[in-house]
Amino acid sequence: MISKTAIVGTGTMGAGMAATLARAGIDVRCYDVSEAVRDRFPGEVAVASGVLDRIHVGPAQSPGTVTVHGDLAETVQDAELVIESVPENTEIKAAVFADLEAHAPATAILATNTSGIPITTIQQPLKNPARVVGMHWSNPPHIIPVIEVIGGDQTSAETVESVRSLISGLGLTSVRVLKDVPGFVENRVLYAIMRECLSLVDGGVVSAEELDTCVQWGIGFKLSVIPPLQLLDVAGLDIYNAVASYLNRDLDGRADVSETITERVNAGNLGMKTGSGMYSYTPEQAQELRMTRAGKLIAVRQALGGGGSAKEAD
Ligand SMILES: NC(=O)c1ccc[n+]([C@@H]2O[C@H](COP(=O)([O-])OP(=O)(O)OC[C@H]3O[C@@H](n4cnc5c(N)ncnc54)[C@H](O)[C@@H]3O)[C@@H](O)[C@H]2O)c1
Repeated sequence: MISKTAIVGTGTMGAGMAATLARAGIDVRCYDVSEAVRDRFPGEVAVASGVLDRIHVGPAQSPGTVTVHGDLAETVQDAELVIESVPENTEIKAAVFADLEAHAPATAILATNTSGIPITTIQQPLKNPARVVGMHWSNPPHIIPVIEVIGGDQTSAETVESVRSLISGLGLTSVRVLKDVPGFVENRVLYAIMRECLSLVDGGVVSAEELDTCVQWGIGFKLSVIPPLQLLDVAGLDIYNAVASYLNRDLDGRADVSETITERVNAGNLGMKTGSGMYSYTPEQAQELRMTRAGKLIAVRQALGGGGSAKEAD
């Protein structure tokens, strides 16, 4: 079992991943290019760790350490697994992977948390592409119990199996994505939903608030218990066939992004992190929402049995 890991890029995703790994007795050395991010990271790890206490993911007999470093080479020098989690930008990731190839042990697995850049693209320039793999955590990574594992064209079966075995050792569920398609599985499904939701609101079919209510308490609530392909059997394939035969051609199929999004992005209204996006938030409201949502996700995960993971504390 892998016991020495490194995380490169400790923004939104970093602390939750680090806390989850440390819980399983794994040492995690972390690096971020930004000193401000490095300074606030230990506090964020403590918060994520407190959430894991509430999920009853019991600490290992000897929890791993989480340390922060200001030098990439020093961070990764002993790692058996490095998780790259820098911004979703092909050039930035390419530069980081070139550095990882230079400074991580030759035997280390190099994983990327990319949300959808093909692994084949990331591994292609490297001398040893066989050790590069997609390890796509879902946000918030210490609460969502599933991780997608994606091999590129040149990833070895051994690399994929090592990462899957690590995930299982964390008490989490891995999903093997069999083809290196953009967006993998989770984001392809999510973005299909988002596109249709925006289309309905843009077209005046429903208000933003009532769209959210409809999806949350209709399909959202239901899908957490009955996933889509099982739902087909519940509804009846004849019903699906009859509805899909006229509805599929009417669903939104636009290839670009809705102006509702592009106009807000151009104005700097990016959502909770800037105080305004589809809705508006004061800093206090945003913080309160993060806390209450984490609590609700924990309660739902416990009610559902948590991806095969949530262990009761002693
Ligand atoms: N945010 C999500 O919901 C989410 C979910 C799943 C996967 N991801 C993926 O995880 C990755 C990181 O996303 P995020 O949301 O944490 O981004 P983020 O912008 O919050 O954090 C990225 C961090 O990388 C640092 N960084 C930038 N260049 C670097 C470099 N050269 N070396 C080291 N650190 C560097 C930044 O300072 C920043 O702290 C992306 O590939 C993203 O697509 C994000």
